[in-house]
Amino acid sequence: MDEISLVTELEPTVATLIDRHVASVKEWFPHEYVPWSRGRDFVTDEEWDPREFEMPDGVRSSLFLNMLTEDNLPHYFHTIKSTFGPNGPWADWSHRWTAEEGRHLIVIRDYLTVTRAVDPVKLERARMAQVSLGEVPNPESAMHAIVYVSIQELATRISHRNTGKQLPDPVGEKLMKRVAMDENFHHIFYRDLAMAAREMDPSGFVMALEQELTNFAMPGVGIVDFKKHAAAVARAGIYDIAIHYDNIIAPLVLNHYGLADVEGLSGEAEESRERLMTFIDRLAKISERTRARAERQTAKAREHGPAQAS
Ligand SMILES: [Fe+2]
Ligand SMILES: [Fe+2]
Repeated sequence: MDEISLVTELEPTVATLIDRHVASVKEWFPHEYVPWSRGRDFVTDEEWDPREFEMPDGVRSSLFLNMLTEDNLPHYFHTIKSTFGPNGPWADWSHRWTAEEGRHLIVIRDYLTVTRAVDPVKLERARMAQVSLGEVPNPESAMHAIVYVSIQELATRISHRNTGKQLPDPVGEKLMKRVAMDENFHHIFYRDLAMAAREMDPSGFVMALEQELTNFAMPGVGIVDFKKHAAAVARAGIYDIAIHYDNIIAPLVLNHYGLADVEGLSGEAEESRERLMTFIDRLAKISERTRARAERQTAKAREHGPAQAS
């Protein structure tokens, strides 16, 4: 199915999903989630002191990455709008989605600044570097984009939620949980859109799924020290390959999208599915090993106390 037909035929579904989305979400206000009374003025050239808000390195890295991902919104907006078009329900959605994502970057930044959870100078320099680069994942077609965002919003939900759970601050946890709820609504929107796309063009859907899953990376292109922070996030058990498998591959790709049962595939799409199933089997084995290693580390930490945990 060609790009224009897919986007045009999905329009009524997009309109229905927007109505459902707007009826399901509740209004919320970033300023009500920020512990303003814990803040104080920053003096020029004041050095940031991590001891003012102690937390595991992986949690701090995750806050840093999650903030910068939200900060890259202008470029995500550009990709989404240029992929799905400037008019009609698609545009209504990209505008609404952008407004909601903007709330995330407001609330997380205010929290990080007030609580001094991350170095504000480093964060601002990293934001300038990243946004100036203007790089975001750029799916090659509308089908690829739908598949990618359905996975990415879910991954972001998990990342925000797990970061919040490990924050040694109930106010921060509540805030990250609130943001994660929004990401879940976005995920559900895109997931149901992906299901409609699967009905219209099963072969295109499976081939896009193969490409997006085999190349999947959390959006971090252009973030300063991305690899270092991503490794710390994985070590902290906030987002790693086992979490990716358990929360995305198994429930979304295998169960919800029913990869093994998609019917009406072309020969090329059948081959694509076979390759993807092999890839998923391999991922299952790797995540099994990752899980076992994490369990061993947790047991060791319990035995020797938190100082040995890392
Ligand atoms: Fe977000
Ligand atoms: Fe989102």
